[in-house]
Amino acid sequence: MNFKKVSEIRKIFLNYFQEKGHTVVPSSSLLPAGDPTLLFTTAGMVQFKPLFTGAVELPYTRATSAQKCLRTTDLENVGKTERHCTFFEMLGNFSFGDYFKEEAIEFALDCSVNRLGFPIEKIWITVFENDDEAEKIWLSKGIPKERITRLGKKDNFWGPAGDSGACGPCSELYLDRGPEKGLPDCGVKYECRPGCDCDRFLEFWNIVFNQFNQDTEGNLHPLKQTGIDTGSGLERVALLLQGVDSVYDTDELREIISEVEKISGKTYEGSTKVPFRVITDHIRSALFTVSDGIFPDRTGRGYVIRRLIRRAVLFARKLDLKEPFLYKLVKPVATIYKERYPDLEKHISSVERTLLAEEELFLKTLEIGLEKIEALVLKTKLEGSDIFSGKDSFLLYGTYGFPAEMTEEIVAEHGLSFDKNGFEEELEKDRQSSRETWKANKVSLFTGIKTDKTEFLGYDALEAESEISFIFADNKQVPSLKEGEAGVLVFKSSPFYPEGGGQVGDTGFIRKGSSVFKVLDTQKENDIILHIGSVLSGSFSEGDKARLEVEKERREKLRFHHSGTHLLNGALRSLLGNHVLQKGSIVSPDYLRFDFSHPSPLSIEEIRNIESWVNESIVRHIPVQTEVLAIEDAKKTGAVAAFDEKYGDKVRVLKMGDRSLEFCGGTHVVNTGDIGYFFIKKESSPGAGNRRIEAVAGPVVIETFLNRFAELTEAVQNLNLKIKEELGAEGTSLSIKTNVPGPDEVRALFASKGADAVVTFRDLSERLSLELEETQSKFLKEKKNRESRDFENNPEVLNQVLSEAKSIGTTKIVSYIFDSKDAKALKGLSDNLKVREKEIVAILASKNAEDASIVVTCSPSIAGKKVHCGDLVKAACEILGGKGGGKPDMAQGGGKEVSKIQEAVQLAFDKAYAGLNGGLSK
Ligand code: SER
Repeated sequence: MNFKKVSEIRKIFLNYFQEKGHTVVPSSSLLPAGDPTLLFTTAGMVQFKPLFTGAVELPYTRATSAQKCLRTTDLENVGKTERHCTFFEMLGNFSFGDYFKEEAIEFALDCSVNRLGFPIEKIWITVFENDDEAEKIWLSKGIPKERITRLGKKDNFWGPAGDSGACGPCSELYLDRGPEKGLPDCGVKYECRPGCDCDRFLEFWNIVFNQFNQDTEGNLHPLKQTGIDTGSGLERVALLLQGVDSVYDTDELREIISEVEKISGKTYEGSTKVPFRVITDHIRSALFTVSDGIFPDRTGRGYVIRRLIRRAVLFARKLDLKEPFLYKLVKPVATIYKERYPDLEKHISSVERTLLAEEELFLKTLEIGLEKIEALVLKTKLEGSDIFSGKDSFLLYGTYGFPAEMTEEIVAEHGLSFDKNGFEEELEKDRQSSRETWKANKVSLFTGIKTDKTEFLGYDALEAESEISFIFADNKQVPSLKEGEAGVLVFKSSPFYPEGGGQVGDTGFIRKGSSVFKVLDTQKENDIILHIGSVLSGSFSEGDKARLEVEKERREKLRFHHSGTHLLNGALRSLLGNHVLQKGSIVSPDYLRFDFSHPSPLSIEEIRNIESWVNESIVRHIPVQTEVLAIEDAKKTGAVAAFDEKYGDKVRVLKMGDRSLEFCGGTHVVNTGDIGYFFIKKESSPGAGNRRIEAVAGPVVIETFLNRFAELTEAVQNLNLKIKEELGAEGTSLSIKTNVPGPDEVRALFASKGADAVVTFRDLSERLSLELEETQSKFLKEKKNRESRDFENNPEVLNQVLSEAKSIGTTKIVSYIFDSKDAKALKGLSDNLKVREKEIVAILASKNAEDASIVVTCSPSIAGKKVHCGDLVKAACEILGGKGGGKPDMAQGGGKEVSKIQEAVQLAFDKAYAGLNGGLSK
């Protein structure tokens, strides 16, 4: 076999399939678009899932790609075996209703033998147990029957990726690496073949004959069109073609290992290779995921990335790497891949920052965590147990940040097994106890009670009649509630929206004749709607018919904010990219808050564009459509779903034209035009890797500007008044003259310009805030100048200072310590002293709570002859713990040791005195 570099292999493969009429499609992101059931892109076919199932129109019928993939199922094996990686690249060719078995087999064999250079006599084949057709084709291509093995579903049936999608029987190509690669008894005791666990046969190409679409329940339905999905692990092919022992010894990965050698100062050959391999694999995974917008986090995808990073940090200790180092590998590794993935380069610094922060976070507790784990292992063994308890692993997780899977790997090295269930139980206990107390009560409230679901009427109606099916108070079911009593009413049907999907619960009233119950909050438990509140008058009993009235205005505001949230999500995904994932949201009557994954703060420009995008969607008056679909069909629409959310069999899909498509059970406007206006109030970060936007929609936008302008009016008036009081007529030029719009003006512009008014008022309020700030600082400066001037020229001050002067011949010498004067004022005063006196040395100082300053001047006739002001200040400042100096006739300085100001001034005085008596000494 001819040695081929990884980059050559990629090219040969893609060129071959391009020649055969395939469109070369770039790798998609590691974050699978529109499929919340799949954590990462795990195969080349993932980006083509909708093309296989016929959910979308086909842009081509043949495609080929080299896809970046991440698989973490065998994480604990990575580094310890020859061929396990989490990150890898998969070469693939795909047919969507175009060619099928015959050509797929022909292409695989032709490309492997005639382009990549695998010897045909060493190629072995597996086919699915009943796939006679595939076997026949292989035979016709010259593979003898004895090199074809039939295997069952476990080995030769592939898919789907995620919990639904295309799948089918498959056929794999293996290379025979010779009996010496097998286990000692392989080929002796029995005939070794593909499917055996030994390393003699290595699979390098998998052809999936897509025939079925699997639904979420696991049922198989024939596909409208058959398809081909093949996958060939690039690193494995390279291992075979380069004749090396492990994927880590292929050219590109070996380059990364060299970087690890450089950083650690240790050599790979001849030492234990595991840590080198672990770091090499994990840095690739971290680089590619973080640059695709998946950041380390406590849950979901981010948790997997956190685990990888922490595992790399742990293994690095075996190379004596105890400081952050992974971030240093980002640049060299990105350099290796930048030609294939040009986007990597612009993410380098954000990945470096993310990794450094993550490493620092973990390193803080790693040392003590490791000591703790050793002590706990010892304790476990002393107790005669060989199971590391769930409590202990939870302690390591909660206190020292050890991922449970990492603890499992560490304790396994000590011969202990890991109590996974025990760990999960502890985790759940912790979750429970950290929930709000009343919610925890609520759960216990319902144990054992069986009742029908409450029918939710509130998408259309805000009022309805219904019957009370039961009542709760004091943690138990009660027959009735009397005036003044608090409790929970449950009805057969209700228009009250229970908190969910970020939207807070409705409030309102429930009436029966003259009896009134005030609903303070609405929650949901197992599809039962809970109206929580108290009886204002009269009483309510089980079986009563009552009228339920949702507080309309509040609900209205909730609708504006919920629809605004969807448009905001649409804007973020469209303007920032599909890496934006919802991390949590609050939809309240007063505002909306939306957290999402994004690496860096948004610029003013971005915020304005996002806001405009939403307002433009409002102006377009797009009808809002909802449809309740089976989850399967809902997914096909490509609607955005929250990953952490659990969905039932049926989901509601909410569509706003081409601007937004999301799974959502909340209450919304009928047309985007109803929202009226949208305004982003604030952008911040709730934690690493995430951003937070707070915004308002609907009439609350007008209220927000009314408040904002009312505050600005007050601030402007106060400042103008202060300027006038303190600076008199001279201040007139400073005062703010920009008009702050009054309430009528604000309302009128919204009425005439609608959403466009947002831009006008945003600009105006930003300009005004800036003007306020600038004017405020100009005013303070001017005030200070004036104070200095008043002080310097005040004859009383001059007289006071001079009254303390001493005379030496014709020269006066004076020192004086003021409170809270700046150096400029001291200088001004000393200039005036020099004008008043013919010959003078003036040592003026000032102190405040933080620091002290000193200014020394003298008349030109003695400067540099009898007194050197620069030297005096220098000496004084040494005492003050600061710095200073200057010319013979004028110098200034200061320091922080305020309490020594007296001493410092005295020293300057004594030196000046000595100088005046005897001239300057050296
Ligand atoms: N999807 C199949 C695999 O991952 C072939 O690409 O093996």
